[in-house]
Amino acid sequence: MLAAFATAPVPSDPLAALEVGQRPEPEASDGWTTVSVRAASINHHDVWTLRGVGIAPDRFPMILGCDAAGVDADGREVVVHAVVPSPDWSGDETLDPRRTLLSEKHQGTLAEQVIVPTRNVVPKPAELSFEEAACLSTAWLTAYRMLFVKSGVRPGGTVLVQGASGGVATALIALGSAAGYRMWSTGRTEAKRAAALALGADAVFEPGARLPRRVDAVMESVGEATWSHSLKSLQPGGTIVVCGATSGPNPPADLNRVFFLQLNVVGSTMGTRAELEALLAMLVTTGIRPAIDTTLPLARAADGFARIVAGDTAGKIVLTV
Ligand SMILES: NC(=O)c1ccc[n+]([C@@H]2O[C@H](COP(=O)([O-])OP(=O)(O)OC[C@H]3O[C@@H](n4cnc5c(N)ncnc54)[C@H](OP(=O)(O)O)[C@@H]3O)[C@@H](O)[C@H]2O)c1
Repeated sequence: MLAAFATAPVPSDPLAALEVGQRPEPEASDGWTTVSVRAASINHHDVWTLRGVGIAPDRFPMILGCDAAGVDADGREVVVHAVVPSPDWSGDETLDPRRTLLSEKHQGTLAEQVIVPTRNVVPKPAELSFEEAACLSTAWLTAYRMLFVKSGVRPGGTVLVQGASGGVATALIALGSAAGYRMWSTGRTEAKRAAALALGADAVFEPGARLPRRVDAVMESVGEATWSHSLKSLQPGGTIVVCGATSGPNPPADLNRVFFLQLNVVGSTMGTRAELEALLAMLVTTGIRPAIDTTLPLARAADGFARIVAGDTAGKIVLTV
C-alpha cells in the first residue's frame, strides 16, 4: 500500500528521511481493527520522528502520522485516537507511562490503511467531513485538554497563545474563542497575525511584545524562543500550560519569577478518548471547524512536509487517500 514513511532518522534534515512509496499492508490481530484511511493530517510530531526524536532507532522504517479519519473493518466512519495505552491500562491513557502515540511503536496513519486497538476508534459525526475529522486527534485534542482540562481558566478569562498559524495554535484560538475566552495570540508575520484574527483571536501581537495587561494563562508549544515572554506575560497565580518545545526544550527557568509570582507550570500531552469524543461533540454543537491550509493527495506528502518544516502554514495540512 502507499504510505509516507521515515526511512531512518536524519536529525539535521528531516525531509531527507521522508519517503513516499510502498509498504506492506498491516494485519489486525485480536482486539485490533483495520481502518481504511480516507484522510490524514500532518503534525509537527511527524517532523520529530523524521529527525529521530521520540522514537527508538530500531523502529525504522516507520509510517508517519497520528491523525486519521476513515472506515473501520465493520464499515463505520471513524476518527482514530492516536494514544495507544498498554493492554491492561485503565483510566487516563495519557498518564500510562508505557503509552505510545501511533508512529512511535505502531505504524502510523499516513497510509492507505492503519491498524489500531478497537478502543482507539471513535464514531465520526456525520457533520464533519473526513478531511475535517482527520485534523482533530493530535493538535486539536491537545489544544482541548490544554485549555479546558489543564489551564484552570474559565470562560471570560484571558489566554495568550504563543504562535498563530500552527496546528495547535489555530486549534487553541478557535476553541477558546468559541468557548467565550478572550484569546490573544503572537504571530511571526503580519499575515499570520491577520489569520489569527480571522480565526477568532481578540488581539494579536508580535513575538515578545509587551501586552496591554497580564493574562490568566499562556498556551506554550514553542519553548526556548517564547518561554521568557510567556512567564513575563502571566499575572500572579497564572498558569503556563506547555505541550511542546518546537524551538528547543531548555529555556532559562527564571525560577525567581515562578515562585515570587506563584506561577503554575503545567504539562499537557494529547488527550483521552473521552476528551476526543467531547471535542467532536463541541465541533458539532458550535459549528467551528479546523482551519485547513492545504489538502493534498497522499502521494504529494513531501510538499506538505516541506511547508511544515519551513513554518509556512495557516492551519492543518491534510492528505487524502
Ligand atoms: N504534547 C503533545 O501532546 C503535543 C501535541 C501536539 C503538538 N505538540 C508539540 O507542539 C508543537 C507545535 O505543534 P504543531 O503541530 O502545532 O506545529 P506546527 O503546525 O509546525 O506549528 C508551529 C508553531 O510554532 C510557532 N512558533 C513560534 N515561534 C517559533 C519559532 N521560533 N520556531 C518554530 N516555531 C515557532 C509557530 O508560530 P507562527 O504562527 O508565528 O509561525 C506555529 O504556531 C510541536 O513541538 C509539537 O511536537 C505536542
